[in-house]
Amino acid sequence: DTGMFTFDRGYTSTASCRSRITFIDGDKGQLMYRGYDISYLAQERTFLDVAYLLLNKELPTIEQRVDFCLEMKKRSFIHEGMKKLFDAFPDNAHPMAILSAGVSALSTFYFEHIDIDNPDEYMEMAKRIVAKIPTIAAFSYRSSLGLPIIYPDLDRGFTENFLYMLRGYPHKHIDLKPIEIKALDTIFTLHADHEQNASTTTVRNVASTHAHPYAAISAGIGALWGRAHGGANESVIRQLEMIGSVDRVDEFIKRAKDKDDPFRLMGFGHRVYKNFDPRANILKKIRTELMKEIEIDSKLVEVANRIEEIALTDDYFISRKLYPNIDFYSGLILQALKIPKEMFAVIFVIGRTPGWISQWIELKEQPTIKIARPRQLYLGPVDITPKH
Ligand code: SDX
Repeated sequence: DTGMFTFDRGYTSTASCRSRITFIDGDKGQLMYRGYDISYLAQERTFLDVAYLLLNKELPTIEQRVDFCLEMKKRSFIHEGMKKLFDAFPDNAHPMAILSAGVSALSTFYFEHIDIDNPDEYMEMAKRIVAKIPTIAAFSYRSSLGLPIIYPDLDRGFTENFLYMLRGYPHKHIDLKPIEIKALDTIFTLHADHEQNASTTTVRNVASTHAHPYAAISAGIGALWGRAHGGANESVIRQLEMIGSVDRVDEFIKRAKDKDDPFRLMGFGHRVYKNFDPRANILKKIRTELMKEIEIDSKLVEVANRIEEIALTDDYFISRKLYPNIDFYSGLILQALKIPKEMFAVIFVIGRTPGWISQWIELKEQPTIKIARPRQLYLGPVDITPKH
């Protein structure tokens, strides 16, 4: 099929990318998916509604919502052969390493069933990846602890099912509070897309080479893993635990301000939000609600509140427009949901996957796809080749 060998002339840097998916106004602290404000979506809609919106460009009707939920349930199982992959990793393997490998491995089990240049198949591929990533994530976590894996329970919704696969016992009902499910569902929604951040740019760069979507998502997982990006929520908890008590906060604020000290306050600052991260504000409210019903490590909350109290009044942070970002709050909530910190970036992946896939499809639907090829400012030596 010659279609496989058609390439568009030239290249582009994804920095000039145009998109209709997510809008951010960093000064106003505004975030919209397909024109819907994040506070409306987080409050009034489910994560699967948001995934449907990102993928289909509109919110689902009641019937479409029911169909989509069913479609995702049907696809939530993974090929039994994939279980060997989890056994291949040592117990101390980081779940992001397993997830990145697992998503790439999906291609060997499902790739031949899709034609990545056929727009009619994009939605099938999208549903498959969004539905299977939570299962791969939960299976990899359980196998890293030597626990029996818990298969998806088709009587449970998307987010409840993930918590069940993570924390459940075979054939045993577990008590999941509605507020726990709503908190995690909102965290997924808040992470669903964020225009051209580092990992989404990675996904688009890989998509621009005509690699298959599993490769693009696997690469996105790798980029997200970094502590400056999706690994920040895990680093926030580690940092709060290291600081340990309110009376040590001043010492670390001082270090964060010291130009000669590489120490940074994890969960603070953002390349785009120079006022406040609207997602952080929503999570702060969720943390307060959650604390009324389930135990959150109050010592860590005290340290976090003290950091926030100082940083929001300190000229160093104000002058650099450094405010708490989404990761400053998500870690404490995830810890309260009994999700281990090694899984925090995985939670970010589950939330971000519909956004990554929507961005992959948007690029593939462009009339011409130019391979990403940013240029550079060359600073090295110029032609010092010995002349004979
Ligand atoms: C995410 O892009 C996205 O949209 C990402 C994300 C998404 O949804 O995809 O929103 C998710 O990644 C959120 C960010 C999570 N990362 C962290 O919380 C890590 C800690 N934050 C920083 O490393 C930093 O703030 C970044 C990486 C988030 C943003 O870095 P920038 O915009 O490149 O800022 P910079 O490094 O140029 O810093 C500007 C100044 C510097 O001081 P000066 O040289 O001007 O004196 O601000 C200082 C920095 O030293 N600074 C910090 C700081 N962040 C920036 N100082 C102390 N603590 C910090 N956290």
